Amino acid sequence: MSSRSDLTIMRVCFIIFLLGALVELCDGGITSEYVRARGSDLPDDMPLDSDVFKVPPGPNAPQQVHITQGNHEGNGVIISWVTPSAPGSNTVRYWNENGESKKKQAEATINIYRFYNYTSGYIHHCVIDDLEFDMKYYYEIGCGKWHRRFWFFTPPKPGPDVPYTFGLIGDLGQTYDSNRTLSHYEMNPRKGQAVLFVGDLSYADRYPLHDNNRWDTWGRFVERSVAYQPWIWTAGNHEIDFVPDIGETEPFKPYKNRYHTPYKASGSISPLWYSIKRASAYIIVMSCYSSYGIYTPQYKWLAKEFERVNRTETPWLIVLIHCPFYHSYVHHYMEGETVRVMYEQWFVKYKVDVVFAGHVHAYERSERVSNIAYNIVNGLCEPISDESAPVYITIGDGGNSEGLLTDMMQPQPSYSAFREPSFGHGLLDIKNRTHAYFNWNRNQDGYSVEADSVWLLNRFWRAPEKTLVVA
Ligand SMILES: [Fe+2]
Repeated sequence: MSSRSDLTIMRVCFIIFLLGALVELCDGGITSEYVRARGSDLPDDMPLDSDVFKVPPGPNAPQQVHITQGNHEGNGVIISWVTPSAPGSNTVRYWNENGESKKKQAEATINIYRFYNYTSGYIHHCVIDDLEFDMKYYYEIGCGKWHRRFWFFTPPKPGPDVPYTFGLIGDLGQTYDSNRTLSHYEMNPRKGQAVLFVGDLSYADRYPLHDNNRWDTWGRFVERSVAYQPWIWTAGNHEIDFVPDIGETEPFKPYKNRYHTPYKASGSISPLWYSIKRASAYIIVMSCYSSYGIYTPQYKWLAKEFERVNRTETPWLIVLIHCPFYHSYVHHYMEGETVRVMYEQWFVKYKVDVVFAGHVHAYERSERVSNIAYNIVNGLCEPISDESAPVYITIGDGGNSEGLLTDMMQPQPSYSAFREPSFGHGLLDIKNRTHAYFNWNRNQDGYSVEADSVWLLNRFWRAPEKTLVVA
């Protein structure tokens, strides 16, 4: 071969190298270099005799106590608990911090359900919706010597500049990692005031016959947080519990019996999709495992729902949905595609600020992108930068027994700003109508370490400026 040919080949190779480097540069954001130390096995659920699952003392004492928002505005609460062996008292006594002498009371409904060979305890749900905003309340349940007392804070009345801090937890399960995540959330100095939970609670369905005793252990495990601050529930695939082989054909039966939501207050017909206002946020909870196509009840409800959000009252528009639209892990890749095709155009039109999802057992934050131009014939089917689009945050990394997802699409897609397969939790710290700070905190063995953070500029009040990324 002549030296001229060699030179040509070298030139071509050099150009290919340059193009390769350019492609690398043009690809997505950061893939974290942190690699979590792993054992050889998947994380185990904590054993039944773990202290976190301890039954409270006393015969038939209330257990699995949990609260969630009870109306649309935020001055209501649903208080729920289980008594294991008898209905017990269905009365909630409650009072604000200034008035123990003025105790009020409210009555709970009581239900039980059966799931194959399992029969639940007596599940109590009590709606209280006459509370003052921005107030500490105490409540007592159970009777006599074995009653139990808890407290919570109602949020401030909705308003555009009301600061409020939400925790973000998803796909929690009940492993030692789940316990670390919850502990780190509880100890976070930013102090989350309510949790936005993005689905997959107990993972009881991983047990033979979907052993519903693991719903009970999960209820006792998380009580230490959710009895004192509301968790806003989203249904995940591990809540479906559809097992026709054993005659269990009612989807979401354990979940719907145990975890109530204030869906009627937002005009929804299903506890699986609903909305609430809380402080300066308007939160829309969607169900990607219920029908969502055009003309379905969820579709019709969402169409009205986006229209009625008043950003001058609640500037921060947040969507919770279990299955993410944008992530770049191999497992579950594109599972949210059909929902994305249906609803992404509305997220952009109505300038949703941030979408939180779970399902993928890892963390990822997207750039502001949209992919809504495709019309079958125009070929426009790639995500593009879009300042009216939300940031998509995938945070299904609570720590369940299915373990972390570590396989990622390579190279990192351009829509991906940061990704890391570790367990952890997030905090959304809303400062005012224009600024909110989000951070994600990995479980780094015994420590909680802030591994990603971003300043979010409100889409309604600050669009179309750029999102500020803080190193
Ligand atoms: Fe899931």
